[in-house]
Amino acid sequence: MNDGPGVPAAPARGGLAVELADVRFTYPGRTRPALDGVSLRIKDGSTVALVGPSGAGKTTVASLLLRFWDPQSGVIRLFGHDLREYQLDELRKRIALVRAGHLSLQRHATRANVMLARPTRTTPRWGSPSSARRCTIS
Ligand SMILES: Nc1ncnc2c1ncn2[C@@H]1O[C@H](COP(=O)(O)OP(=O)(O)O)[C@@H](O)[C@H]1O
Ligand SMILES: [Mg+2]
Repeated sequence: MNDGPGVPAAPARGGLAVELADVRFTYPGRTRPALDGVSLRIKDGSTVALVGPSGAGKTTVASLLLRFWDPQSGVIRLFGHDLREYQLDELRKRIALVRAGHLSLQRHATRANVMLARPTRTTPRWGSPSSARRCTIS
């Protein structure tokens, strides 16, 4: 996976945080696409849950956001910048993926869960266990 040149330190806030535009992705060795023409627009500051049956492609969307894979066609943007413009470590500082089964939802564990992704953070950005629950997407 190639590093991008980098984006300005503080990409413009307030608009679209995440955008998938006609994304198609097929896993290596598969013939059927896991995602086929997926478009999605998530505004900065909003909380969104992707809901669907097993195999629908939810985890694949999360994996593409972290650039574990790149789509074969279509574009994914974060704050207006193609993911491929970001340096990988910058991108992965901005996006956290907590896999189902690894997330402990007890009240006192919220901080620990946030700290997993942001060890330098002393106060969780999400104020309550219920908001952490809503952030689970895989
Ligand atoms: N690592 C992988 N290699 C090949 N196919 C995969 C892999 N991960 C997922 N898939 C396939 O991609 C499709 C979407 O899976 P996934 O994103 O895991 O769905 P969900 O998270 O919604 O259950 C499914 O058909 C699944 O079998
Ligand atoms: Mg999944």
